[in-house]
Amino acid sequence: MTIYNFAAGPATLPDSVIKQIQDELPSINGSGMSIMEISHRSALFDNIINTAEQDVRDLMHVPENYHVLFFQGGGTGQFAAIPMNLATNHKRIALLDSGHWASRAGDEATNLGYQVDVLASTKDQHYQELPHYDEPISSNQYDYLHITTNNTIEGTAYHKIPQHGDVTLVGDLSSNFMAEEYNVKDFGLIFGGVQKNLGPAGVTLVIVRDDLVKPVKHIPSILNYNLFVKKNSMFNTPPVFNIYATGLVLKWLKDQGGIAEIEKRNKQKASLLYDFLDDSKLFANHIKESDRSLTNIPFTTGDEDLDKQAIQATAEAGLMNLKGHRSVGGLRASLYNAMPLEGVQALVDCLHNFEKQH
Ligand SMILES: Cc1ncc(COP(=O)(O)O)c(C=O)c1O
Repeated sequence: MTIYNFAAGPATLPDSVIKQIQDELPSINGSGMSIMEISHRSALFDNIINTAEQDVRDLMHVPENYHVLFFQGGGTGQFAAIPMNLATNHKRIALLDSGHWASRAGDEATNLGYQVDVLASTKDQHYQELPHYDEPISSNQYDYLHITTNNTIEGTAYHKIPQHGDVTLVGDLSSNFMAEEYNVKDFGLIFGGVQKNLGPAGVTLVIVRDDLVKPVKHIPSILNYNLFVKKNSMFNTPPVFNIYATGLVLKWLKDQGGIAEIEKRNKQKASLLYDFLDDSKLFANHIKESDRSLTNIPFTTGDEDLDKQAIQATAEAGLMNLKGHRSVGGLRASLYNAMPLEGVQALVDCLHNFEKQH
């Protein structure tokens, strides 16, 4: 039986990448040493990290005046790093509260002593649509506006970035990084853990405009953008294996035709499931149509017990990790870049059968 993994992250990776890692694990580039044993100060690793950076630049058309940095600590680490590095002027941040992770980012900044103003929230709508704020947002008032481009738990996404006046825009792309096209130039900073679309957990990608990187006192070195720029992301020991594996996924993505092509496929995959759900008399997705995510699709029968049975039926068919997040319930299918169309078809077939039986 073919197993398809619909987990929200860590998530499915391309089969060819797993195979390549397996083949190369005992000896990287004929060195007789495993990538897990290689010094980050070696020429071999220099080549790996520099190639990964260049591939990020090529794939996202990153302009020259942006840095591409590799951190540890996940998206959560960046919830702290971003205010510490960027909110140095007003110590005041604007936020669009589109769900759990946006809210967590706000809580972390508040906890660190920054003022966080939630300009709009759709909490009262159970985050089933995206918040928008129509007034201009001024850089005279705020250091930046924080948005979450894709809301992993709730299943919404800003396919077009919201208006934000002249304020610096910060985007949490954790769950749709390179799954759909965004213009890097629209943002001052974008970030996300790679463990959904781009690699194994352990690497956090940050792309930041040069003028936002400045010396800041009294912040931890491992979250200091200025130091990481100076040290080519190797201020301390980086996650060597994870950067290597991420590099392989980036190469795979290039081989697939890049982000434009993968976005086309992601739309096809998402439509297949949404069309089924919209026609279904048993299952439904409750997200406002224009705000629906391509990568995370929550759905439910509306009956907890029946949802449980559906999860059981999918697991028996080799369709794994479809249980919805505890805050939303129901089921959730994460259709990241490495999920093939056949996997989504298998899911739709299984749900269709389940519906016939119930
Ligand atoms: C949108 C979003 N932001 C942030 C995070 C937190 O990331 P991490 O677990 O890498 O700290 C997640 C995790 O799923 C996420 O989905």
